[in-house]
Amino acid sequence: MKFETLRWNQGSLGLLDQRLLPKRVEYLNLESASGVAAAIREMAVRGAPAIGCAAAFGVAAEAYRLRHLDKSAFHSALLEAFAMLAESRPTAVNLFWALEKMKSAIDSGKDPQSIALDLSQAAEAIFKADIEANLEMGRHGASLVPEKCSILTYCNAGALATAGHGTALGIVRSAHRQGKAVSVHACETRPLLQGARLTAWELAMEKIPVTLICDNMAGYLMTQGEIDMVIVGADRVAANGDTANKIGTYTMAVLAKRHGIPFVVACPVSTIDPATPTGNEIPIEERSGGEVRGYGEADWAAKGIRIRNPAFDVTPAELVAALVTEKGVIEAPDEAKISALLAS
Ligand code: MRU
Repeated sequence: MKFETLRWNQGSLGLLDQRLLPKRVEYLNLESASGVAAAIREMAVRGAPAIGCAAAFGVAAEAYRLRHLDKSAFHSALLEAFAMLAESRPTAVNLFWALEKMKSAIDSGKDPQSIALDLSQAAEAIFKADIEANLEMGRHGASLVPEKCSILTYCNAGALATAGHGTALGIVRSAHRQGKAVSVHACETRPLLQGARLTAWELAMEKIPVTLICDNMAGYLMTQGEIDMVIVGADRVAANGDTANKIGTYTMAVLAKRHGIPFVVACPVSTIDPATPTGNEIPIEERSGGEVRGYGEADWAAKGIRIRNPAFDVTPAELVAALVTEKGVIEAPDEAKISALLAS
């Protein structure tokens, strides 16, 4: 990869500040859980697996920072760190999954310095496992992609949203590396423009053909036969296969169904939440109306009007043609197939 989304160096988390892309490539260096929680909340880092990795490093950074405290002060500070990180964003389950993994790496019989070392290693293991999962997912997913394929994607489920390679874009990357003639239509993804700013940037950097469209152009392109497949990532997949992803994903799934285009979801197993039975129980983040009023310095809406800004929506499992994970591909995912996958 030509960039690193996250990098860890002895107690310090380097985060590529995605709010500045594609204009500037700058890293934040964070050495506390509160700094990492703020970066997640304010979306300097975003994308479900990347949020999980950042939270894990946030715990490790806090443990490193406080490793000279006495045992009891160290443990209560760590508890606060877990709570703070868990409150940063509600929808992507990878955040809670990673925090649970970090909790289970704590051997409270050990001294703070050794725990800090264990937590650093645990966070690095989560990070490495995510890259490996994405490469596997790419391999499985590429088998679904024909030799020549025009793929529509939504938001950014690429290297920027993960430890590396990406989920939906990981499939695109793998197919491209296999020599398939893949091209991507990236929906701009209002309100925060992850498609325009991030997906288009990371694909262009690798010379994978990409065309940027406004979100409301997708249906028209489908009527024109310009889209062969839709591939998206996920923030949380419920036990029955209902999938939460960036607001607007559901619209793409309905359109794809209408036009007989396969709608594929790619995510690591850590995004599947067996404790959430259906999409109805997935918490949907509601963000500030300011993000809809305009973008950056631009503020184009009438003053004083009411604004809604749900950040995610849920695509019912019945609209999903295939779910791709590092463990393989499930066609027409449902509760039984997902539970068999998790048990495998
Ligand atoms: O609000 P964001 O940018 O964190 O939303 C990201 C998405 O919806 C991604 O599609 C999802 O997290 C999958 S990332 C591999």
